Amino acid sequence: MEKPGRNRKAEIKIGLLGCGTIGSGVFHLAVKNKRAIEESAGRPVRVSKILVKDFDEPRPFPADESIMVTDPGGILEDPDIDIFVEVMGGIEPAKSFALRILNRGSNLVTANKDLIATFGPELIEAASKTGARFKFEASVGGGIPLIRPLEESLGGDNILKIMGIMNGTTNYILTRMSSEGITYEDALMEAQKLGYTESNPESDVAGTDAAHKTAILSSIAFKKGVTQDQVYREGIQSIRPEDLENARELGYSVKLLAITECDGGGIYARVHPTMIPLDHPLTSVSGNFNAVFVIGESVGELMFYGQGAGSLPTATAILGDVVNIAGELGTPLASNRDYWLRPADVRSIGDVMTKFYMVLKVVDRPGVLAKIAGVFGDNDVSLESVVQKGIGDSSEIVLITHVVRDENFRRAREGLENLEVVLEIPSVIRVEGETAASH
Ligand code: HSE
Repeated sequence: MEKPGRNRKAEIKIGLLGCGTIGSGVFHLAVKNKRAIEESAGRPVRVSKILVKDFDEPRPFPADESIMVTDPGGILEDPDIDIFVEVMGGIEPAKSFALRILNRGSNLVTANKDLIATFGPELIEAASKTGARFKFEASVGGGIPLIRPLEESLGGDNILKIMGIMNGTTNYILTRMSSEGITYEDALMEAQKLGYTESNPESDVAGTDAAHKTAILSSIAFKKGVTQDQVYREGIQSIRPEDLENARELGYSVKLLAITECDGGGIYARVHPTMIPLDHPLTSVSGNFNAVFVIGESVGELMFYGQGAGSLPTATAILGDVVNIAGELGTPLASNRDYWLRPADVRSIGDVMTKFYMVLKVVDRPGVLAKIAGVFGDNDVSLESVVQKGIGDSSEIVLITHVVRDENFRRAREGLENLEVVLEIPSVIRVEGETAASH
């Protein structure tokens, strides 16, 4: 048996900031997988202190109360801690704590997507100046390895486009609406009961959570700083069960997709409900699973799939970062990610080229279709398919356009809304991923 002594490398001490759903998962795995972690890290790893708001707060896994403190100073200023792990969530006090840690050159791992998506450049700059190790694999896609594969494994390729299901709540809702025909409201209630949603579920259904993750992946993939306010977003609140039925009949599924691509130096980053072909790999991703489809110039198509949230999946990503930092300690910093400080040329949604699905409720009388076709023609929007369904005195037109500039489609939509024969436009969904060429 190996004796502790000169050959044994010093233990890595973790200061855990927060011990709720994710923090208690980190503590649990650090104990349960101690041996595997030691083998990967090359030295023992132990949580030596935990900052909590309340000793008795509910947590899915028990943690050692004898190492819990409630005074932030007692842990943030502890010179024995090698790596801080921030799992409190939210902006403050997480941001102040993170800056305090990084500004003095201490190492930090965080799962905090809001913090990175909003203040990424400021935090990266602090880490870069002091040489602190700063990692945040768990901030996007929970347990799915994404940041390290994009940064390191694909570091020799040019990433062209990423399309991802990056929010489990909305994927669960759309899956249930599509497979069981239940309403949006009932599906949302189920997702809340299952604990998938953010504390404010509006952040899930309005696309905000996915937009934050899109900003982080865009920055990593395209080597420029993209912040969440630059990501266009539309939510799933107005998707109707009829749209999911129409989509299926037309050969598509509907997903809330995060899409980001780089073309001619411009970055097009957006989150919106999207129709994708039934045979697209992302169609098979159901329930609360996440998946990220990456297209690299040389590597081609890749897909990363798994649990994008939850205590243990997220904790594995955090411990992966800890292991990674442990292996780097004492070596010069390989990359300080200075590219994150270069502002990105993020283009407006109006410049995006895509197809559209649209439903129009119109009066049923001669000449109506001609008027509608005229508005599309006037705005350079060409139609790929048009289906008309009679419903009493009115009729519903379901159409799909060819690839158009978003701005042109928006103008056509405004023109249609002003036509007296158009009663309502209940649904508009972008269509993507049809051919290898258009991804
Ligand atoms: N509410 C998020 C989701 C949790 O549904 O995916 C992970 O960020």
